[in-house]
Amino acid sequence: MLEKAVDYSHSLLKSTVSPGDTVIDATVGKGNDTILLASLVGKSGRVIGFDVQEKAIRLTREKCLLTGLSDQVTLHHIGHEKADEFVPANTELGGIIYNLGYLPGSDKSITTLLESTLASIKRLLPLLRVGSLMILVVYSGHPEGETEKNGVLNFAKNLDQNEFSVLQYGFINQQNNPPFVLAIEKRKNASSS
Ligand SMILES: C[S@@+](CC[C@H](N)C(=O)[O-])C[C@H]1O[C@@H](n2cnc3c(N)ncnc32)[C@H](O)[C@@H]1O
Repeated sequence: MLEKAVDYSHSLLKSTVSPGDTVIDATVGKGNDTILLASLVGKSGRVIGFDVQEKAIRLTREKCLLTGLSDQVTLHHIGHEKADEFVPANTELGGIIYNLGYLPGSDKSITTLLESTLASIKRLLPLLRVGSLMILVVYSGHPEGETEKNGVLNFAKNLDQNEFSVLQYGFINQQNNPPFVLAIEKRKNASSS
């Protein structure tokens, strides 16, 4: 069976994130990605998570406690546009995930926005390890969503193919703007030839 976008994003994480890695959850929300990442990196790794909603950070902290994964998770109640400032020096990231849009069951007016999403992507891509993925699950079915989707797609399409491979995965015959995955694999560092 073909996987839904979120399931596919999780399959990609499972096949690329390893124990000991430092990884980023750029949109913590209810913590589903944080929990998966924490189990993949293990006690020797680190998940650094960001969300602008205090409620999301609190919920996810509780989930980490209940699942025994707190030791390897650090959560920040701050926008992901500053995420690079929280990555320890000389650390290459083993994975980065974003779920764009709003937090289901919460205030739908609090969504990710093109300007801050792009700022964050641009700051984090240079920190990604060669061979690792930045994954974006793009939900565009909200007022700001179309603008964000188009801006992110435009940015990703124009990444240098020698440095990055970009995959788009999603269903093209479903109604109501189904989410899709953008997976950006770093092929080489900008400075190396
Ligand atoms: C689709 S939800 C994330 C779902 C989450 N990955 C999960 O597993 O439940 C999007 C989240 O992005 C958060 N968000 C919005 N703008 C943000 C920003 N600039 N930085 C970090 N998080 C942001 C929202 O508060 C919301 O919780």
